[in-house]
Amino acid sequence: MHEMLTVVNHPLVLHKLSIMRNRETGPKEFRELLKEITLLLTYEATTHINTYEVEIETPLAKMKGKMIEDKKVSVVPILRAGLGMVDGVLSLMPNAAVGFIGIYRDPITIRPVEYYGKLPPLNENEVFILDPMLATGVSSNRAIDIVKNAGGKNISLMCIICAPEGIDMISRHHPDIKIFTASVDERLDEKSYIIPGLGDAGDRLYKTR
Ligand code: URA
Repeated sequence: MHEMLTVVNHPLVLHKLSIMRNRETGPKEFRELLKEITLLLTYEATTHINTYEVEIETPLAKMKGKMIEDKKVSVVPILRAGLGMVDGVLSLMPNAAVGFIGIYRDPITIRPVEYYGKLPPLNENEVFILDPMLATGVSSNRAIDIVKNAGGKNISLMCIICAPEGIDMISRHHPDIKIFTASVDERLDEKSYIIPGLGDAGDRLYKTR
């Protein structure tokens, strides 16, 4: 298993994930839960980020406090379902920059094809790549390549649910990447859906089925 894998199994995350997985849960609640779980994953995924000291005057005294450099944070959702995670991160780090990567898998060659890319400067930044479902790992793996080629160094991948196959893919190509997830599920089916998973995250978010 990937050395830098953190499975966030806090009761609040497990509770919200169970509602998300339920086929009866509609798009409004699904979107809210995706945002909330992402926020909780963000709490875990940011324990290592830098802080700096600030002077504060409370109503009673002067003191030194700590703040994070959220201007040095970049969030990169993989289109389309990753979009549903952006607000969860931004609600905790509103000054983060947001980049976008669009990737689909060519059904004939099975290779990932990048159809859109717009990244902010990444050099010194903490970069959080967002992909709710790490299935085969092909798209996330390609997104990590793209972020590294654009100068990204401190990269974390945040996923709601992972398949072991996806984690293996990232481990083989990018062992330096930290992965944060709410669950490692059993396996992929023959169409590369995660079992038990939650179905197609994009379709459930945007009601395209
Ligand atoms: N993408 C999804 O949205 N769901 C899966 O199960 C696999 C990939």
